[in-house]
Amino acid sequence: MNSTLQKQPILEVNSLQVEYPVNNSGGFRRKNKPAVIDVSFKIFPGECFAIVGESGCGKSSIIEAILGFVQAKRGSILFEKQDLLKLSPWSFRKLRPLIQPVFQDYNQALNPRMRIGDIFKETLPVHLRDSQTDQLLASAGLSREILNYFPHQLSGGQKQRVVLARALSVNPTLLLLDEPVTSQDLSVAVQIVELLISLRKTNNLTFLLVSHNLSIVQLLADRVAVMKNGQFLEQQPLAQLLSDPRHNYTKTIINQTVAP
Ligand SMILES: Nc1ncnc2c1ncn2[C@@H]1O[C@H](COP(=O)(O)OP(=O)(O)OP(=O)(O)O)[C@@H](O)[C@H]1O
Ligand SMILES: [Mg+2]
Repeated sequence: MNSTLQKQPILEVNSLQVEYPVNNSGGFRRKNKPAVIDVSFKIFPGECFAIVGESGCGKSSIIEAILGFVQAKRGSILFEKQDLLKLSPWSFRKLRPLIQPVFQDYNQALNPRMRIGDIFKETLPVHLRDSQTDQLLASAGLSREILNYFPHQLSGGQKQRVVLARALSVNPTLLLLDEPVTSQDLSVAVQIVELLISLRKTNNLTFLLVSHNLSIVQLLADRVAVMKNGQFLEQQPLAQLLSDPRHNYTKTIINQTVAP
């Protein structure tokens, strides 16, 4: 995708800082440990921007700050030109459905006591339920049968498809994909990646993808940021990152990556 043609980013994160309190028993001052340090990036409509980096580098903290699950210490997060960090709770709630997260742990994302049909009913307006449920199932490659199933009766890949279909049920524009395919075996992972590629096209979606796995990232991303210890080391279009990595750490990641 040529981002120069798309002047307005859908998401713009500027100098984001996220910190967590440290348990320092006995100390007088409360200490904080930074997890995200001065991170800035833009995502343009229709693009997949990926953040790759080792476990604990701060990837999920960025997603959690966008969703308001953790409070950012500094910075701004502009979504459709509004700073999510400054919005009133009411305005935030109105915008928030446009941003849907898909987390790594689909077992936690689905209520084990609800049938899949009821899980969909929760988010769909009554008059559209039947038609939209059929449409969502079809787009996620699921059969109608599973509506009567409980989550534990589905395979890992099916559960992840349900999570994706549910995220799409509220017509989001931006999906935040936090390690969306790591929990499955390779063949299922490839299917989920293919599903994400087709959903992005058919639903005009924009993706923020975070993963420790460059093999997955390179199947989906248009641009990639490399993150280490809370900071972005570099961000480049995918092809350029692979052919001309600036940092030794990026080179290490590339060398460790098996070609897809
Ligand atoms: N709620 C929390 N309280 C305290 N520290 C936290 C909290 N959440 C994350 N951290 C710390 O912040 C740092 C970044 O964590 P984060 O979950 O953002 O990393 P990550 O890149 O998503 O890792 P992974 O690839 O394992 O999911 C880590 O050192 C982690 O221990
Ligand atoms: Mg994480």
